[in-house]
Order: sequence, then C-alpha cells, then structure tokens
Amino acid sequence: MENLRIPGPTPCPVDILQAMSKQMINHRGPEFGQILNGITAKLKQLLQTKGDVFVLTASGTGGLEAAIVNTLSPGDKILSVSTGVFGERFASIAEQFGADVIPLSFDWGKPADADIIRQTLQAEPKIKAVLVTHNETSTGITNDLASISSVVKEFYKLLLVDAISSLGSINLPVDDGHCDVTVTGSQKGWMAPPGLAMVSMSQEAWKANATARMPRFYFDFGKAKSYLEKGQTPWTPAMSTIFALSVSLEMMLKEGLPNIIARHARVGKVARDGVKSLGLSLFAQESHASNTVTAVAASDGLEVKKMLKILREEHQLVLAGGQQRLGGKIFRIGHLGWVAEDDIEAVISALKIVLPQAGFRKVS
Ligand SMILES: Cc1ncc(COP(=O)(O)O)c(C=O)c1O
Repeated sequence: MENLRIPGPTPCPVDILQAMSKQMINHRGPEFGQILNGITAKLKQLLQTKGDVFVLTASGTGGLEAAIVNTLSPGDKILSVSTGVFGERFASIAEQFGADVIPLSFDWGKPADADIIRQTLQAEPKIKAVLVTHNETSTGITNDLASISSVVKEFYKLLLVDAISSLGSINLPVDDGHCDVTVTGSQKGWMAPPGLAMVSMSQEAWKANATARMPRFYFDFGKAKSYLEKGQTPWTPAMSTIFALSVSLEMMLKEGLPNIIARHARVGKVARDGVKSLGLSLFAQESHASNTVTAVAASDGLEVKKMLKILREEHQLVLAGGQQRLGGKIFRIGHLGWVAEDDIEAVISALKIVLPQAGFRKVS
C-alpha cells in the first residue's frame, strides 16, 4: 500500500473507511436526521462557532463557490488577498459570478501583510468583502488570520475565508476570529474521503445573504438552512462520506481540538527540521510556515519529477509536486489529518536515500 503524504486527500483510519461500507439509509428519514444533526453539532464545536454550519456534497471548491454566491451580488467590489494558487482560484470564482475583484497578491512563499490590506481598504471604501486563504496549500504558508481579520473588521467588511487545509488542524476560532464564511473539505484534516465541503455562516453573512443576488441553485444556503431544520440536506447527500465524517468527528472530539492542534504543530516541526537537516530549504517564509503542508525548494540539481517517481516506485511514498508556475521548483509534504511524528520521520528517511539519486548534490 502506498504511503500517501500529499496535502489531501489524506489517509483515513480503518474505522472511518469501514463506516463507508454501511448500507444506504433514507436521506429523508429519522436515522439520517440524527446523523446529520450530530455531525453539525460536532462541527460547530471543532470550528468554534455558534453560527450555522452546512455540510455540502461538493469538494472544497464547491464550498468556495457557495461562500461567494450566498453573500455577494454581481458588481460588488471585493478585495481578493492572494498568496498562491488557491487564493487566485477564490478570486476567479468571484470574477466568474460578476464581482468587481480588486486583486492584492503577495509573493508566493510569503504571507499576506495586514498593513497593506489596511491601506487598500482605506483607498477603496466601496469594497464590500475580503477573500482570504488561511492556509495556502500551494506554497506552505499559513496567513496570520487574526491580524487580517482585525483589519477587515476595522472597516466593517465581510470576511470570507478559505480554510480548506487548515480547519480542524491549525487553530482557527471562527467566531472569535470574526470569520463570516469559512470553508473546509472532508479530505483534508478531517481524515475522511473527499466529497464534502463544510461551510460556516455568521450573522453578518446572513445579513449579506438577504440582499445577495448572485445566481445559485444547488448551493443556496437559504434552502440548506430550511432543510437542516428538518434534519435533511436539500439534495441527496454523499451518504457514505457522511457516515465516514460522523466517525472521524467522534475520533477528533475524543482526541480534543487542542491536542490535535498541538500534534500538527509537532509534526510540522518534524517536517521542517527534517528537510533542513538534509540540506534543503523551505519555500515558505519560516515565520509563517504551515503545520499541515511543508513546501520545499528544489535546489542544487534536484529534479523534482524524478525524485517523486523514485519515491513512488521504490519506496511506495507519494509526495506532491508544485502547482502551476511552481511545477519543478518545489515539492510538498502533506502532514494533516491522520498523521504522527513517525510518519514524517519516515518521509525524511526516504528522502535521504532518494535525493542524491534525483540529482541533489548537497545531502548533508
Ligand atoms: C487551500 C485550498 N483551497 C482550495 C482547495 C480546493 O479544494 P478541492 O480540491 O477539494 O476542490 C484546496 C485543495 O487542495 C486547498 O488546499
């Protein structure tokens, strides 16, 4: 079996996989209602919110689209804070639905700067909402959401957060952090298979929803809310993934959120220290390096494609390459969800063998 160490999908514990083999039930019946209500309550605990949380049958990108179309109208001015591939995707979705997007991009590998966000909001008073990626999976950066959020709220703007690869792994108190809409996905820190996006909505987000005119049907949160009151989803849900998520949330609450966050911090450090001990450098600015994914710069002759192939074929270890313009320039180690220190120590040991075979001239 392959050792999957990409930043999602992540490996799933056996109990979670076994939950998926459960027989189908009526998605309009009482048993499903109990499961959905249980999941929703547990997600609220783990997201640290008293607001609404919806479980959508979609990948994370569907959750991002839902965040936008449920709070904005065509022509709305929005500030898109981007630190990589996923920040750009969030902006593209808003643009496709007719938002007037003001892009604010930071160098890839660097975090977003809250002071520059403040200056932009001062210069553009008509901005209605700010889009931010909490954990930029493509570059291995975790943005300082607390500082960004406090700037956004100085100006009373709506804050839409892509927390797909951070929620449930890196601390993100949704209510205390004044996040109006927050999105995550089942295949990331939640130890479940892909197929579900989980999205929170604040009171402010509902106020925006009352006048939001972007077209929506499948992702209409008005419908999601009225169905959830009956213990249902508007459309047939990905039942088996819901069974899996139900078990994973139980496991997560048993471990406890502070312990999960601390485990990811420890594992992130093992990854960073490990790659540095091999003579490699981090791609992300270390002060903001992510605890769920480590991006490593390819230097000193390292051929990323060759390295990934040898790791996969000879060590059954799967790491991720760089996306878009980072192709061939970096590789990424995913360490979120069901992961412990020794899993990443094993990655470092395999790298030590494979790096020189893939051209790296500097193994220490
Ligand atoms: C930060 C971030 N945003 C968005 C996405 C897209 O999610 P999905 O592939 O589930 O649509 C990902 C997935 O890697 C991600 O890490």
